[in-house]
Formats: sequence, structure tokens, C-alpha cells
Amino acid sequence: MARRVQAASVLLLLVWCMEGELRQWPVPYKRFDHRPKSDPFCQAQYTFCPTGYADGSIPLMKNEDVIEVFRLQAPVWEFKYGDLLGHFKIMHDAIGFRSELTGKNYTAEWYELFQLGNCTFPHLRPGISAPFWCNQGAACFFEGIDDQHWRTNGTLVPVATISGSIFNQLAKWIQEDNNTGIYYETWTVQGSLGPNASVWFDSYDCSKFVLRTYEKLFRLGATFKRNIQTNYTRLFLFSGEPVYLGNESTIFGPLGNKSLASDMQKFYFPFRSHQSYKELVLSILDMYGKVVLDKIFYLYYNFEYWYLPMKPPYIKITYEKIPLPFR
Ligand SMILES: *[C@@H]1O[C@H](CO)[C@@H](O)[C@H](O)[C@H]1NC(C)=O
Ligand SMILES: *[C@@H]1O[C@H](CO)[C@@H](O)[C@H](O)[C@H]1NC(C)=O
Ligand SMILES: *[C@@H]1O[C@H](CO)[C@@H](O)[C@H](O)[C@H]1NC(C)=O
Ligand SMILES: *[C@@H]1O[C@H](CO)[C@@H](O)[C@H](O)[C@H]1NC(C)=O
Ligand SMILES: *[C@@H]1O[C@H](CO)[C@@H](O)[C@H](O)[C@H]1NC(C)=O
Ligand SMILES: *[C@@H]1O[C@H](CO)[C@@H](O)[C@H](O)[C@H]1NC(C)=O
Ligand SMILES: *[C@@H]1O[C@H](CO)[C@@H](O)[C@H](O)[C@H]1NC(C)=O
Ligand SMILES: *[C@@H]1O[C@H](CO)[C@@H](O)[C@H](O)[C@H]1NC(C)=O
Repeated sequence: MARRVQAASVLLLLVWCMEGELRQWPVPYKRFDHRPKSDPFCQAQYTFCPTGYADGSIPLMKNEDVIEVFRLQAPVWEFKYGDLLGHFKIMHDAIGFRSELTGKNYTAEWYELFQLGNCTFPHLRPGISAPFWCNQGAACFFEGIDDQHWRTNGTLVPVATISGSIFNQLAKWIQEDNNTGIYYETWTVQGSLGPNASVWFDSYDCSKFVLRTYEKLFRLGATFKRNIQTNYTRLFLFSGEPVYLGNESTIFGPLGNKSLASDMQKFYFPFRSHQSYKELVLSILDMYGKVVLDKIFYLYYNFEYWYLPMKPPYIKITYEKIPLPFR
């Protein structure tokens, strides 16, 4: 009898621990076994990776080649707004490579297939309850480094030198990473600002690709230069412990929670794209009311929805130092 009680309590403890484990923070970014074709509804305003290799291939280097690695950073959308976003330190990150043997150079970057807005907020389509996301992101590898673009209002500095053999191993990893990490995530969600804050969700964006690549290079044996300024843009949301809501079918499907579904549609409505100036002014008031006054945010992560009980300072953009790998 005593033994049975003991067994039961062990079981209970196990279940309890497992439940704790289900709420692992930060929620791990989900990897997929392949990348699905994007829905024809998603139409890019600017073609993704126009000068990349057609099949996403990366040229093979000679093993004995010496490859210089560059840190590249420039204001987001510089081609359209010049240095405007640079003043707010909203920067785009990439990596450059230059072969000593051939003199050719290359750029590797990871970004949205359908631009940032589409990765941050969904579309509401008439007659369809579920919000629709065009949130894929991917790696783009192409020949050339546009020196002027990176240098003028940004950064172009060498950070390491690697062998052709390390480059080839990295190339393989970039392709695997590209096939399994398929969607963009704009926000880092934390309990507060500061080094010991609870992190609920991590972003998955261009700078995370650069940081992952540096880390991979480091593990492959690359040595990084020291004393280089390496700050990155991060977009934060601040909230108490997030609450899991469900996925598209459990919320918006026939058996879903109608009142929650309707609340979520109302939440996303002011964030829609293609608004007139007048609409936008009203939308901004609406967003303020929901996020700051009502303290609500609905986050989409791993193709699932979460409720964030928002708290001050609600939202923040930082440009913080994350050092190059060194041990
Ligand atoms: C976002 O996606 C919509 C729907 O495909 C498209 O009309 C719009 O142009 C996209 N936004 C940008 C900035 O590309
Ligand atoms: C990454 O995936 C995208 C989308 O399928 C593709 O266009 C691109 O060429 C791939 N990039 C690399 C470096 O494999
Ligand atoms: C750098 O910023 C200035 C000022 O906004 C802009 O005129 C210029 O086009 C930018 N440079 C590049 C290479 O885009
Ligand atoms: C990359 O190659 C182009 C074309 O040869 C050259 O103009 C540019 O200066 C090179 N940039 C770097 C960083 O090597
Ligand atoms: C963060 O946590 C560490 C270890 O628990 C502690 O030493 C440090 O003082 C904390 N820092 C802040 C800013 O709270
Ligand atoms: C949504 O969640 C339900 C319940 O957890 C699950 O059965 C279903 O497979 C999920 N749907 C998708 C598309 O992931
Ligand atoms: C539906 O969602 C609302 C808002 O999240 C919640 O208060 C309510 O309990 C849910 N109803 C059911 C039946 O799950
Ligand atoms: C880079 O980040 C560090 C600490 O994270 C900060 O002190 C510094 O001011 C930042 N540099 C710039 C140019 O913003």
C-alpha cells in the first residue's frame, strides 16, 4: 500500500515536472524538416535575393584558399530612406567573404521574403477568420560586396580570416540552416530590460543569422579579431509571463473560441498594411490603446499564438553590443 502511494506520488511529481518543462523559457524557435512553397497570396514588393545563385548554391572554394570575413552593417531600407533609419540605429546585418586566390567576394545575409511588416503583423482577409501570415525569411548568398552601400552610413570591417576548407563547411551549414529555420521573428520578448530579465521569446532575424554564423565559424576553428565594435539592433516587447492560446485551427477553426478569435482580429486590424495617412493616425491611437492602456499583445511564434500581458516600457529598440566569439 505504502509502496503504491509512493509510486503515485513519484508519478505525480513527474507529471508536474513535465508540465513545468512544457513551459520552457525562452520558447525554443521551432525548426522544420523542409521549407514549404510560399502561398501565392504573399507578393513581395521587392524580389527576394535577385542576384543570388538560382538554386541557392554557394560556390566551392579551394581548401588552401584564404578567405577574409567581413562584418557588414547598414541602415535598414537605405535604398529608399537613405540614412533615416540609421539615425534610430535600425540596422541590417550581413557577412562578407573575399577569396584571396580568385579575388572574388561574396555577401551572405538572411532576411524577410515579403518585407518586415509582413513578418511582424498578419493580413486579415475578407470572409476568412484566421489571420494570414507572409512571414518567411531566408538566406541569400550572392557574388559581390557593395562597398559603398555598407561603408557610407554603416560598417565594413574585417573580423576574421579562415581557410577555404572552413568556408566550404560553413556553406553546407548555411544551407541546412536555411532549410530548417524558415520564418522571421521580429520581437525579443522579455520580462524587463537588463541582464537578468526573464526572456520569453527570442527574435530570429538578420542579426541572429550573423551571430549564428560567427558562432559556427568559431566552432569550426576561426579566430576573431578583438576590439571591434559589434552592436546590433533589437526590437523588444515587455510582458509578464506569456499565456499559450493555441494555433490557427484551435482558435479560428469551427471549434475555436469565437470571442478570443474576434479579439485577436480586432487587435491585428490597426496593424494592417497599405493604410492612408488618415487611417494610420487613427490606427496608431488604436494600437496605443490596446498595447499600453489595455496591456495586450498577441504574439505569433512557431505558428502558434500567445497572449502577452504587456508592461512598461512596453516596447523598445536598442542598439547593444554583442561581442564576437572569444574564449
Ligand atoms: C506584404 O504582403 C502583401 C500580400 O502579399 C503584399 O501586397 C505587400 O506588398 C507586402 N508588403 C511589402 C512591403 O512587400
Ligand atoms: C534559402 O532559401 C530560399 C527560399 O527557398 C532560397 O531562395 C535561397 O536561395 C536559399 N539560400 C541559400 C543560401 O541556400
Ligand atoms: C547615406 O545617407 C545619406 C543621408 O541620408 C543618403 O543621402 C545616402 O544615399 C546614403 N548612402 C547610401 C550609400 O545609400
Ligand atoms: C568586392 O569586389 C568588388 C568588385 O571587384 C570591388 O569593387 C569591392 O571593392 C570588393 N569589396 C571588398 C570588401 O573586397
Ligand atoms: C544578475 O544575476 C547575477 C547572478 O545571480 C548577480 O550576480 C547580478 O548582480 C545580477 N545583476 C543584476 C543587474 O541584477
Ligand atoms: C493545432 O493544435 C492542435 C491541438 O494541440 C493539434 O492537434 C493540431 O495538429 C495543431 N494544428 C497545426 C496545424 O499545427
Ligand atoms: C475564450 O477566450 C477568452 C479570452 O481569452 C477566455 O476568457 C475564455 O475563457 C475562453 N473561453 C473558452 C470556452 O475557452
Ligand atoms: C554599443 O553598445 C554598448 C553597450 O551595449 C553601448 O555602450 C554603446 O554606446 C553602443 N554603441 C553605439 C554606437 O550605440
